[in-house]
Amino acid sequence: MPFIDVKNLSVHDPVQQKSIVTNMTFSLQQQHCLAIIGESGSGKSTVAKALIGLIPPSLEVEGTILFDDETLTIQTAEQWRGKRIGFISQDAMNAFNPIETIGHQMMETFQRHLGLHGNKGKAHAIAGLERVHLNNPNELLKKYPHELSGGMLQRVMIAIAMMLSPDVIIADEPTSSLDAYNRREVIMQLQRLKEETGAVLIIISHDLGVVQAIADEVLVMHQGEMLEHRPAEKIFTVPEHQQTKHLLETRRRLSAPLETLRQQRVRAFPC
Ligand SMILES: Nc1ncnc2c1ncn2[C@@H]1O[C@H](COP(=O)(O)OP(=O)(O)O)[C@@H](O)[C@H]1O
Ligand SMILES: [Mg+2]
Repeated sequence: MPFIDVKNLSVHDPVQQKSIVTNMTFSLQQQHCLAIIGESGSGKSTVAKALIGLIPPSLEVEGTILFDDETLTIQTAEQWRGKRIGFISQDAMNAFNPIETIGHQMMETFQRHLGLHGNKGKAHAIAGLERVHLNNPNELLKKYPHELSGGMLQRVMIAIAMMLSPDVIIADEPTSSLDAYNRREVIMQLQRLKEETGAVLIIISHDLGVVQAIADEVLVMHQGEMLEHRPAEKIFTVPEHQQTKHLLETRRRLSAPLETLRQQRVRAFPC
């Protein structure tokens, strides 16, 4: 039985009379990692928002989403967010409250979702920061979001998701605002998150390196429609759809100059 079962999901903008997502049907088994890829504006984030029940009321949603055989509704989404469904967003800075310390925000989350108070919440926060290899967790808890780099905040978000042990983790472009070092770190943390929690992981990314590193399955979107949803190795070796081939080609071409630069560097500075 699939753990997530999406049937005929459509999202429509009645003001602009525009279809944002059209009739998507897909399912996902437990412990699987799905990557959603597609050009900018193809509807990837809208699908992620539908899965966490955060489509703005100005848009119309049709179709059904089942989690573990239970229907997602506004009420269930509210209850499940955090504890059963974790969300790691692209914009780590905006995900935190700028006027509260990291520690306060982590402990408040653990109190609300896990009922951990005082020192128990603090110990849980420290354990989380240690799990994502952030140094001096005690000091980090006293800091405000602006005192941390984007990569560190991204890791704090992953730590929170890890320590809540949700059944599903959705990460929307988790590496797009990071430099190469932090990107690698975050990919490694997401891999660990999947292995250690056994959670279903849905990752939205146009970073094919990330997708190849962690996805079991890939779903390709184009103009609000699902073009194909197949095992990752099949998408990369024998893409079925012309648009998928185009997407892979474009990404390869974009990363090619970087690879050339890297090789030139290796030749110039062999070690
Ligand atoms: N709240 C909204 N109201 C109206 N249109 C929206 C809203 N959110 C997204 N869209 C439109 O839906 C399309 C898909 O957006 P999005 O899901 O963010 O794409 P992606 O994440 O693939 O870049 C875009 O054309 C975007 O402008
Ligand atoms: Mg998006």
